[in-house]
Amino acid sequence: MTDQIPLYDVNKVITGDEVVDDIRSVIDSGWLTLGQQTETFESKFASAHGAEHGIAVNSCTSALYAALRALGVGDGDRVVVPAMTFSATANVVRLLGGDVVLCDVKDNGNMDPVALKSVLDERDDVTTVIPVHLYGLPCDMYEILSIADEHDVDVVEDCAHAPGATLDGQPVGSFGDVGCFSFYATKNMTTGEGGMAITSDDELAAKIFKLRNHHQTKTPEEKEENWGYDVDGLGFNFRMSEISAAMGVNQLQKLPAMNESRREVAEEYIEAIEDIDGLTWRGGDDRKEHVFHLFVVQIQDEYHLTRNELYDHLANQNILSGVHYPPISRLGYYEGVAGDVSNAEALFERILSIPMFPDMAADTQNEIIEALRP
Ligand SMILES: Cc1ncc(COP(=O)(O)O)c(C=O)c1O
Repeated sequence: MTDQIPLYDVNKVITGDEVVDDIRSVIDSGWLTLGQQTETFESKFASAHGAEHGIAVNSCTSALYAALRALGVGDGDRVVVPAMTFSATANVVRLLGGDVVLCDVKDNGNMDPVALKSVLDERDDVTTVIPVHLYGLPCDMYEILSIADEHDVDVVEDCAHAPGATLDGQPVGSFGDVGCFSFYATKNMTTGEGGMAITSDDELAAKIFKLRNHHQTKTPEEKEENWGYDVDGLGFNFRMSEISAAMGVNQLQKLPAMNESRREVAEEYIEAIEDIDGLTWRGGDDRKEHVFHLFVVQIQDEYHLTRNELYDHLANQNILSGVHYPPISRLGYYEGVAGDVSNAEALFERILSIPMFPDMAADTQNEIIEALRP
């Protein structure tokens, strides 16, 4: 029996001994949180993503929460979230006391600007919209920004799947008011857990910066010089450790090559799928800009198996797959949530994520492709 083929492979993402040396030197420095590594990671990440400021935090959920809070989202505010995303995108709205309004998605899973326009035309109580660059594919940001602008609505980009993805050469995260990234264990670049908010708005950056550390008026380094400080608002502990930040600096350097490798794996899949009746892939024409956090096939009626049967068939051959995501409206907590989700519901029935990671060995990928053939 062959080894199991994982859906993600962290060992292909965290490579090289130098990362261990970087972690060792952080430990040796005796400074383990909010220090030089964090500052270096923030400035390198922000500049690689076309933004003035980066604020490193402990997850993308924290980044999204702090971004919405900095924009003033609170009790009773309505925030538009795509129907197909991970629950974190919607949860942060509810955690702030706001209400989620779902927006339907296109066939590639991304927020549908036409659906967004009808949501915003129908309601005048929406303050913010959160497009999600699902699977690593940039959303239609020009259309989304123009509709949001017309309705005077703020835009927070959920870039959890898309570090390094671009639209006409411009990095995602730099289109809206704030962009939020995840460095969770399975992501394109990882620090185990971690996240980053980026923005070119000085005021928003300053707010998020304080929210991350209990709204203290001084950083730990500044407090070393003089202990006096104030707490001039309500914040939380969203801090990233220096160990994570050192990993982040290392991972960021490798990100372009890792994303390119993901694109090569994707091209092999796309070519193979063209010859398989009933299996399709929807991800846009310009694949140079897609960073393929996930590779999601769509199972049409002509395929010889249903989605769940294909999942079992792959599992029987030791190949792990997954479903990203059940629409938000299907989650118990969100029962009865506002918004039209018919396309997301239909899409959900036919999507399956198959193994995707950089440097996938050719024989591993052939095994997966063979298992997809009838
Ligand atoms: C689309 C999306 N948004 C937000 C998050 C939350 O990221 P984190 O786990 O870093 O909080 C995730 C995590 O998987 C995600 O997939």
